Amino acid sequence: MVEYSPFVHAHVDNCYAIYKQLRDDAPVFHNEELDFYALSRYEDVLSAHLDPGTFSSKMGATIEGIDAGQPYLIVKDPPEHTWHRKIVSRVFTPRRISGLEAFIRETAAGYLDDHREAEGFDVVTDFSFRLPLDVIGALIDIPPDLREEVHHKSDVLAARDGKEIRPDAAIQASMDLIAMFAGLVAERRKRPGDDVISMLMETDVEDETGATRRMDDNELAHRFLELAFAGHETVAKLIANGVVALAWYPDQRRELVADPSLIPTAVEEMLRWDPPSHYQGRWSTRDIELHGKTIPAEKRVILITGSAGHDERQYDNAELFDIHRDFDRHVSFGFGIHLCLGAALARLETRIAFEELLARFPDYDIADTGVVRQYSSNVRGLQNLPIVINRPAAVG
Ligand code: HEM
Repeated sequence: MVEYSPFVHAHVDNCYAIYKQLRDDAPVFHNEELDFYALSRYEDVLSAHLDPGTFSSKMGATIEGIDAGQPYLIVKDPPEHTWHRKIVSRVFTPRRISGLEAFIRETAAGYLDDHREAEGFDVVTDFSFRLPLDVIGALIDIPPDLREEVHHKSDVLAARDGKEIRPDAAIQASMDLIAMFAGLVAERRKRPGDDVISMLMETDVEDETGATRRMDDNELAHRFLELAFAGHETVAKLIANGVVALAWYPDQRRELVADPSLIPTAVEEMLRWDPPSHYQGRWSTRDIELHGKTIPAEKRVILITGSAGHDERQYDNAELFDIHRDFDRHVSFGFGIHLCLGAALARLETRIAFEELLARFPDYDIADTGVVRQYSSNVRGLQNLPIVINRPAAVG
């Protein structure tokens, strides 16, 4: 009988084999101990994303639901979600995102050039979290001296040690971050700038009752945290997962080096093959009949997008990484009303990261030691990924 819990580290290490068992033998899986249901086939995950009336987000984005009831966009249902999303969407206009290209390239080049002469560097701690954090930091204006702390606390917020499902440290880190961002909101009220939070502060919105209002301080602090966290933790993982993919498939890496115009499709394949966000938490609003099973009303349901991307019913040779894969869709940014708002930015950052990385270090190797996985509830990726870029000359 198949067993699965994202809190068991061995299951995370071996998740793709377990997902296959879930898809084949238990497409409506029930974890009795934690009392959650899991959908793992592509079609089921997609359909659930498209039916927010049945699969509500109100009880939080993870199994543990620490974020339930908080003013995050990701845990709201329509009609409240609709106006909140409309206002936050204004941040991510195609013009604003494409206008960031030069800044992203310069920032990526700066971090990579720091290591040109070194034997190697750590993809995560020296590059992949710094780049998106600088970008989101510039967009919402997080002062540079606070960014390390934002990153550290975001890591603590997400970390799950395999024992506690709702660690006190995670709850404390989220409270610390909200306090920090509430302080920034108060400063921004006194001295608005040209950043996104100042813009949101002064935008009138029509809420679900039809009244015109503005976001309050608490909502703005949560917007800060939501964008700061989602804006860097995921991209940091995607870049590192992609570096691993290209180390395992060196022929494809050589193709990208020779023809960087292939990088955007390679990024889509990285998203499908080893996505940073593995599942999305939902809550059943009614009894759901599927594959001969019943998910009762008022139960936690997770949509395993990490499994959907490997579903052989949807993708040929799904386990293989293939930058030439002909596919028009994946669910690694979610789908439907909660489709990732930062998808265009994430794609741009990841494309530029690989353009700059492969132009400088086309022959990198993953170091023999020091690769460390980070364990979280729904985010999958590495905490450390040391690579070798200049091999010491052989002696003798
Ligand atoms: C590779 C990087 C990223 C991945 C894999 C990713 C993944 C996702 C997924 C799966 C969702 C849907 C959640 C759900 O349905 O419950 C989502 C939502 C969201 N993402 Fe991303 N994300 C990434 C980058 C970003 C970035 C860079 C930002 C912001 C700068 C961002 C902001 C958001 C926001 C605000 C939502 C909530 C949207 C809503 O509820 O309407 N994400 N993301």
